Amino acid sequence: MNNLFFFMFVYVDLILSTAQAIVKLPNNVTIPGVFMFGDSIVDTGNNNNLTTLVKSNFLPYGRDFMGGLPTGRFGNGKVPSDLIVEDLGIKELLPAYLDPCLQAEDLPTGVNFASGGAGFDPLTSKLMLVIPLSEQLQLLKEYIEKLKKYVGEERASSIISNSLFVVAAGSDDIVNTYYHTPARFWKYDIYAYTDLMLTEASAFVQKLYTLGARRIGVISVPPIGCIPAQRTLGGGPERKCVERYNEAAELFNKKLSAELDCLNSHQFHATVAVFMDVYGPFLDIIHNPKKYGFEVINRGCCGTGIIEVAAFCNQCSPNTCKNATNYVFWDSYHPSERAYRIITHQVLHKSIQAFFHSQNK
Ligand SMILES: *[C@@H]1O[C@H](CO)[C@@H](O)[C@H](O)[C@H]1NC(C)=O
Ligand SMILES: *[C@@H]1O[C@H](CO)[C@@H](O)[C@H](O)[C@H]1NC(C)=O
Ligand SMILES: *[C@@H]1O[C@H](CO)[C@@H](O)[C@H](O)[C@H]1NC(C)=O
Repeated sequence: MNNLFFFMFVYVDLILSTAQAIVKLPNNVTIPGVFMFGDSIVDTGNNNNLTTLVKSNFLPYGRDFMGGLPTGRFGNGKVPSDLIVEDLGIKELLPAYLDPCLQAEDLPTGVNFASGGAGFDPLTSKLMLVIPLSEQLQLLKEYIEKLKKYVGEERASSIISNSLFVVAAGSDDIVNTYYHTPARFWKYDIYAYTDLMLTEASAFVQKLYTLGARRIGVISVPPIGCIPAQRTLGGGPERKCVERYNEAAELFNKKLSAELDCLNSHQFHATVAVFMDVYGPFLDIIHNPKKYGFEVINRGCCGTGIIEVAAFCNQCSPNTCKNATNYVFWDSYHPSERAYRIITHQVLHKSIQAFFHSQNK
């Protein structure tokens, strides 16, 4: 009797915990779906059918994903897109819109348009041969037509206006395009270049608004000077964080945050666009790894951990670590699932409230 009661209790608890949102929303608010845009931090497989080096649909990517399944996610397990829908209690994973196995019933709860290697600067996506933000928007338009056919006009527009739209880009613009392309580096100083990024980011948010989005999160650029590849390339013999990359990220983030405030006050007349700061939480992990149970912060798990990424992180990479749990980084660019989980949870929890603080109109 006691045992049966205990069993039922555990069982019910398990069912509830898979269906329940971890992030609390105000009482009468629901978020039916999530739509992601941007780069490899949030891509869940849209690059799989592209001819580009920015791919990850091979092991050891996905080593800790559903028993070891490489899907085109740039990590060992789930990425922030998945963790956001999981935290909101919507579903377990956010499918790539270009996944050939995508089902009609996946549409109403959200899909992912992000493409590893993309940037706010159109040149970034062009150099990497990936899907630029402009085309990610075209895919959204195509999606909306499909959604209307599937659930009807009225429900489709309610899904769009209540869902969360999230953009994560800018890292590739600064570390790859700006500092490594003469066409950008010699033509712009970092102030002018972050202005170029900002103009594009702002236009993107406004286009999402025009298409019906009313809850738009823009993820800040992380402290990119501290990612293992940049430590290797620009951090000197001690592989320190590259300060000028971190400063560029902070410069852009400051402008972005101010621009979103401006759009909310003068254009949208409501809190539509929310700045989601990952820079602070990420740097805190790098400065205080022990606090979060991490041991390795300056190299990734894959290969030597100091340079391998995407096509160069593969089954032949020597010395790949056995267990990424204590690593902040999975490869030389991308955080491990556990680091993503900590950051996503913190950032979502904080920024979700902002949408509902002052939903005036
Ligand atoms: C939630 O309820 C409050 C109080 O009844 C109301 O003012 C607000 O508009 C509602 N919010 C939404 C999103 O329906
Ligand atoms: C993309 O898909 C098409 C059709 O399924 C296939 O023929 C082609 O080889 C794929 N390309 C890549 C780069 O995977
Ligand atoms: C990795 O280590 C953690 C903590 O020590 C452990 O819980 C987990 O099961 C390990 N994972 C694998 C795949 O061995």
